[in-house]
Amino acid sequence: MCTTMSLTFVKEALKNWKTQGSLLPSTSALSRRMLEPLKVSPGMTIVELGAGTGIITKQILSKFPEDCRLIVFENNRNLAKRLRQDLQTNIRRGRVFLIEDDAAKLPLHLKSLNIPPVHYVISGLPIANFDHAGRERLFRAITESMRDDGAYIQFQYLLTSWLHVRRSFKAKIIGLELRNFPPAFIYKCRKK
Ligand SMILES: C[S@@+](CC[C@H](N)C(=O)[O-])C[C@H]1O[C@@H](n2cnc3c(N)ncnc32)[C@H](O)[C@@H]1O
Repeated sequence: MCTTMSLTFVKEALKNWKTQGSLLPSTSALSRRMLEPLKVSPGMTIVELGAGTGIITKQILSKFPEDCRLIVFENNRNLAKRLRQDLQTNIRRGRVFLIEDDAAKLPLHLKSLNIPPVHYVISGLPIANFDHAGRERLFRAITESMRDDGAYIQFQYLLTSWLHVRRSFKAKIIGLELRNFPPAFIYKCRKK
């Protein structure tokens, strides 16, 4: 989004390297690539996990129709505060729900918002830095929250998490985006 937002991201990355997982926000090229597999359907719901500066959020809002609902998770307080300011119009209109909490609590939040299983889960979470139990909890939460025909799209800089992902989902590597620092692999996963 704006430069001050990117500065907040860098500052937070220096304080919380493991949970942030990168020093810089993703590029527009990677954000666009993450959304290529998504097909528009009326009234669709998309969940975004680990929104950071909102670079992918912004792409989702510009690419998908007004009746598309977006549930955004970001558990870093300072980033969530900035996102709330940037997304306030869409939040007020009920198009975006911003949740400052752990992404693994996705099913609880969907239940409390009365939202049925979703079409897509888009994630920039640094899953390679999660411990085994944390990653399993997250994968269970995603599986439980997604429609049977839904998809979970995840980017990762290294393939260290690939075997874990394969164990929990029917997964494919659908691309490597070089116009990002660092370059990122994109996984597309479906329920087993
Ligand atoms: C690699 S950054 C990606 C940010 C943004 N999606 C992008 O592409 O630039 C990962 C983001 O996930 C957030 N995050 C990490 N663990 C999380 C968790 N368990 N729940 C929610 N957000 C989390 C971090 O605070 C950070 O903003």
